[in-house]
Amino acid sequence: MARANPHFLNLKSSYLFVDIAQRVAAYQKAHPERSIIKMGIGDVTEPLPAACREAMKAAIDELGSKATFRGYGPSEGYGFLRDAIVENDFANCGISSDEIFVSDGSKQDSANIGEIFDASATVAVTDPVYPVYVDSNVMAGRSGDAEGDRYSNFVYLDSTPENGYLPALPSEPVDIIYLCFPNNPTGTVISREKLTEWVNYARREKAVIIYDAAYVAFVSDPEIPRSIYEIEGAHECAIEMRSFSKIAGFTGVRCAYTVIPKALKLADAEGNEISAHQLWNRRHGTKFNGTSYPVQAAAAAVYSPEGQAQVKELVSFYMENARLLREAVTALGLSCVGGENAPYVWIQVPGKSSWDFFDNLLNNAGIVCTPGAGFGTCGEGHIRLSAFNSRENVIEAVERLKTVEL
Ligand code: MLT
Repeated sequence: MARANPHFLNLKSSYLFVDIAQRVAAYQKAHPERSIIKMGIGDVTEPLPAACREAMKAAIDELGSKATFRGYGPSEGYGFLRDAIVENDFANCGISSDEIFVSDGSKQDSANIGEIFDASATVAVTDPVYPVYVDSNVMAGRSGDAEGDRYSNFVYLDSTPENGYLPALPSEPVDIIYLCFPNNPTGTVISREKLTEWVNYARREKAVIIYDAAYVAFVSDPEIPRSIYEIEGAHECAIEMRSFSKIAGFTGVRCAYTVIPKALKLADAEGNEISAHQLWNRRHGTKFNGTSYPVQAAAAAVYSPEGQAQVKELVSFYMENARLLREAVTALGLSCVGGENAPYVWIQVPGKSSWDFFDNLLNNAGIVCTPGAGFGTCGEGHIRLSAFNSRENVIEAVERLKTVEL
């Protein structure tokens, strides 16, 4: 009989958001009359911007004509999109178009990027953390054994109320560090000074930062860096990931990109320098045939003047939801962070486990949250509310929250 990959057997039984969806489905089955407001997974609710729809339709029409039909595109993405990304998202950051790899999602990019590193690399993750960084490295065999909620070979960087949910630098050697800012799940942002400390650390220790900036569009504070490449030296030590999912409603359409500067070097077994860009290019060429043309055309339309105005409106809409949620939670006497430069509100629920609070909210208010413990040990005692919802649902959720017994 064919043997299963033993590393997969090290995974927790199911993926957090699948687990939540199953619990909610079971609850709805038992209470079909109950209206449920889903504020768990951060999935967008508002329609695609008109500029993106029009560009996508035009691209489909091109594919319908022999003269303009296109087959396989470049696996790393069309030049028109890579150029637009560089001009708009990385102006003055010293990034060139051929350092951009367009893909069908940051979830998969953040999971797949591990393939270019040695299987023995030591991984540092923040706790709480987006579960994909952990699970993908468990699948790759880097985790060691599960010990309670943690794995023996990972280095966990605690993000707690005491440190303002900004973890300290690792106190032991690590090779790969996953950082996500604005943070999922805590909604915290990182200052230029703090990010500089991370970049300096990574250069000194020859570690690589995988910088997930999927929520950067929600930052309004001008002091907060938008890209890690605004920090001197980051080109030598950081890979940045961004997504069109949340800024432009692409969670179902699927488009994202990863930036790998050519200056970023890994080492082979003899210590010779190896280009991370070349490895990823090689991996992309083998395993990916490119994001579909209509989707890339729609993504490029985000950068048109109309697209920029429309996504700005979407971001403001969700951030007003976040403001309403923060206000409601604070009125309940709970402490929270996030929701100011990020679409997630991270709430402390003292005296209760986060799964108990999840059940309490579901049973008594019909609201689905994400229990903090699902993001790691330090998430215990917290829940996350997502601001991605209709205004009607947010207003209703705010009313229902007033009735929740803490
Ligand atoms: C979340 O809710 O954390 C995100 O929607 C998950 C994701 O983007 O994959």
